[in-house]
Amino acid sequence: MTRSTPETALGRHIEKIVHPQGELVPCSVCQAQKKLRNEVIIMEADHPYNSSGSPIEVTVTIVENEAKQPVSIFMRLHDLTHQRELENQLSQSQKMESIGTLAGGIAHDFNNILSAIMGYTELALDDIDKPEILKKDLEEVQKGSLRAKELVQQILTFSRKGDQELRPLRAQLIVKEALKLLRSSIPTTIEIKHNIDPDCETILADPSQVHQIVMNLCTNAYHAMRKSGGVLEISMQNIQLGIEDISEKINIEPGSYILLSVSDSGIGIPRNVLQRIFEPYYTTKEKGEGTGLGLAVVHGIISRLHGHISVDSEPGKGTTISVYLPTISAPMGMKQEKVCVPLPKGHERILLVDDDADIVQLTQKVLTKLGYKVTGLTNSLETLLLFKQNPEEFDLILTDMTMPNMTGEKLAQQVLAIRPGMPIVLCTGYSEDFNEEKARALGIASYLMKPVSTEDLALALRKILDCTK
Ligand SMILES: Nc1ncnc2c1ncn2[C@@H]1O[C@H](COP(=O)(O)OP(=O)(O)OP(=O)(O)O)[C@@H](O)[C@H]1O
Ligand SMILES: [Mg+2]
Repeated sequence: MTRSTPETALGRHIEKIVHPQGELVPCSVCQAQKKLRNEVIIMEADHPYNSSGSPIEVTVTIVENEAKQPVSIFMRLHDLTHQRELENQLSQSQKMESIGTLAGGIAHDFNNILSAIMGYTELALDDIDKPEILKKDLEEVQKGSLRAKELVQQILTFSRKGDQELRPLRAQLIVKEALKLLRSSIPTTIEIKHNIDPDCETILADPSQVHQIVMNLCTNAYHAMRKSGGVLEISMQNIQLGIEDISEKINIEPGSYILLSVSDSGIGIPRNVLQRIFEPYYTTKEKGEGTGLGLAVVHGIISRLHGHISVDSEPGKGTTISVYLPTISAPMGMKQEKVCVPLPKGHERILLVDDDADIVQLTQKVLTKLGYKVTGLTNSLETLLLFKQNPEEFDLILTDMTMPNMTGEKLAQQVLAIRPGMPIVLCTGYSEDFNEEKARALGIASYLMKPVSTEDLALALRKILDCTK
């Protein structure tokens, strides 16, 4: 299919241009057009005209005569590729900007966590012969470590470059985090109220993008109330949209969504401005105050997530922005609520390698306690040599990814060349960009994200050892 140019389109029937193959099933534009005659429809559509696969915006107006017969159709197809590129670039630079602000907050949080860990460790050393108190102290140390782990994961996800990485997400946690950041950066003349349902369903999204949505909307709300002060209200809950709820105002598929709304009691948006707020570079702010890209980025992110954004505003009274994001039913790969079950044990022989001697010592202790026979090394080359000497001496290899001389990935390749099917578990850092696909391509049985909890390790080992028996 070739693209129509104005010259080739001139004088031809509209159907021949938009449905050149004579498609029988009406496209989304035609469907919308049937419902909304005499109105301008602007929508992003997957249109047959669009042979290049680039995002396209279709604007259609049908003008009818008094007898309700169409007399003319105006149609404008606008290629959004360039706009999307700009949005992506901006999204990255905004991210870098907020990292600066985040870093301060994170250092602060981290120090608090470390203070708790250090303090309770000292107490534990002191209470070493009082098992009841000792247990409580250590539980606090464990709690602190888990908080630190979460914090590190959050920073890494946020700073990750490149394309969005969609993953199952409890967005309420990100929203709460963003609100903390916001509280410290906007004046107290603005009251922040929030009503975030902790049981919001899981969505499939990129955490840093959800952060961006919240920060952009709240910053706009703050600006609208900058002079007078006011109330910024953020709420988030589950919502079910039935066919009856779908209108030209909410133009999405019926289903289950989370609804994030950001309201302010600020200056509001005049009608003529309202039509343009999502346009890139459209701003009513003074030079140097705003680039006019905030809402364009937000809109881009939301439409890629198959969500919807709508605006309600009354000049002089305030504005509410509502964001609908589709939920996913099964929280794939997400941890369920913790249930206390005894950890599965084993007796198999494990070859363990990590260049960090402390980690080797700790993992060796943990695995020995679970019943395994463990040989721990800190050098991957030596590990390979030992394995070569007698490949049948071990039942599983547990290896770190980043090691000097030979990475865990290389080690795995060499080991599998000697003994195909050897069970290998690779422990990788969050930033190392390893995924299931890569693991499968290498023939690695499983991989774990560091820091690895005893529970995750015990379960992963048992799973692999049981299925290779
Ligand atoms: N909550 C709000 N209240 C009043 N006006 C708003 C609100 N949100 C957006 N606007 C209007 O929409 C315009 C575009 O918003 P957008 O976030 O895209 O850009 P910006 O805030 O001007 O600049 P940037 O976000 O790039 O710093 C704003 O200039 C403002 O006129
Ligand atoms: Mg803005």
